[in-house]
Amino acid sequence: MDFKLTEEHLMIRDAARDFAKNELLPGVIERDEKQLFPTEQVKKMGELGFLGMMVSPKYGGGGMDTVSYVLAMEELSKIDASASVIVSVNNSLVCWGLETFGTEEQKQKYLTKLATGESIGAFCLSEPEAGSDATSQRTTAIDKGDHYVLNGTKNWITNGNSADYYLVIAQTDREKKHKGINAFIVEKGWEGFEVGPKEQKLGIRGSDTHTLNFNDVKVPKENRIGADGFGFTFAMKTLSGGRIGIAAQALGIASGAYELAREYSKIRKAFGTEICNHQAIAFKLADMYTEIAAARHLVMQAAWDKDMGNNYDMSGAMAKLYASKVAMDTSVEAVQIHGGNGYVKEYHVERLMRDAKITQIYEGTSEIQKIVISRGLLRD
Ligand code: CAA
Repeated sequence: MDFKLTEEHLMIRDAARDFAKNELLPGVIERDEKQLFPTEQVKKMGELGFLGMMVSPKYGGGGMDTVSYVLAMEELSKIDASASVIVSVNNSLVCWGLETFGTEEQKQKYLTKLATGESIGAFCLSEPEAGSDATSQRTTAIDKGDHYVLNGTKNWITNGNSADYYLVIAQTDREKKHKGINAFIVEKGWEGFEVGPKEQKLGIRGSDTHTLNFNDVKVPKENRIGADGFGFTFAMKTLSGGRIGIAAQALGIASGAYELAREYSKIRKAFGTEICNHQAIAFKLADMYTEIAAARHLVMQAAWDKDMGNNYDMSGAMAKLYASKVAMDTSVEAVQIHGGNGYVKEYHVERLMRDAKITQIYEGTSEIQKIVISRGLLRD
């Protein structure tokens, strides 16, 4: 088996690595501490093409494959998972969904701006009472002929305040259950659309997560994505790809924590030698490295499946399930290796540990990934 990356893949990986080191690292602690959105950095990532990596050049995107995308996600996430989730949501959930299922008019009007980073997108599925149980949408979109009227509340929305365009999932016909759900493009500033409070979070504190309220928001019919009743399938298909991006984010958090721990263990001395010379530390590094390598294989497999046109529901869920566990375990061990220094901000590993947790929760908890995987296994 040949897992060799192409020259182009390596260039993209290196560009993301340089950007993360030069542009994300300075200020990452302050942004985390003060919950500051990385406005300048997002602007630069748009200019460099990181916000619409897989979008066709016809719509202003980079026309890259999913392998390139996960390589970039890993590098950005090593340093700043708050910045990388913005990249992930915009690429996987918003741009991909619009390019794959949107009309030509929707692509010209919205995708061209989202792919270049001129505008930012958000994906609005979760609700106070519909997180994992996504079919139980309470937000309603009532068909009024040439438009829909949207009412309801969405929770935990990444890019909640910073987005310009929102893909909103809502129930049009409750009797039809998930087949009565639709997806819409909603613009910030439309009457009745209100950005609610910002969440005070454990991790990924630089990304802005908000509640959104829709009070009689009038959505033109041409802003519905796909045929009537396509919304739940739209959300599921979009999330399948999104999970590959989050798996890559988890992989990056794990790699970042491992690299910091390895470097620290080579300079920190205890009991007369650098701590890496103690098996208690060296064995931890061996475990971390092995688990990261296994996670990377799963992430690459899922990305490759998507690029090859294979079904990636299961491989994406497997990658997310495992990589997020590795992110959690590795970052906890990285803090342990740093000892007391691991518990303070300037050594970065405590932030990575806090950031790791969300990868086991968003775009489907670990339990949801197990549902997807086990259903795939037992289908035939
Ligand atoms: N592709 C296409 N169709 C799919 C699909 C997929 N990947 N998965 C399910 N469907 C279809 C099914 O085929 C079924 O359709 P039919 O009835 O026509 O056969 C329909 O959808 C309903 O499927 P299920 O019966 O399997 O639905 P379910 O209620 O049992 O639950 C679930 C499925 C996998 C648990 C789903 O609800 C789910 O993924 N939940 C988690 C939601 C989630 O990930 N939320 C994250 C929010 S977004 C976010 O975090 C973004 C962010 O800001 C970072």
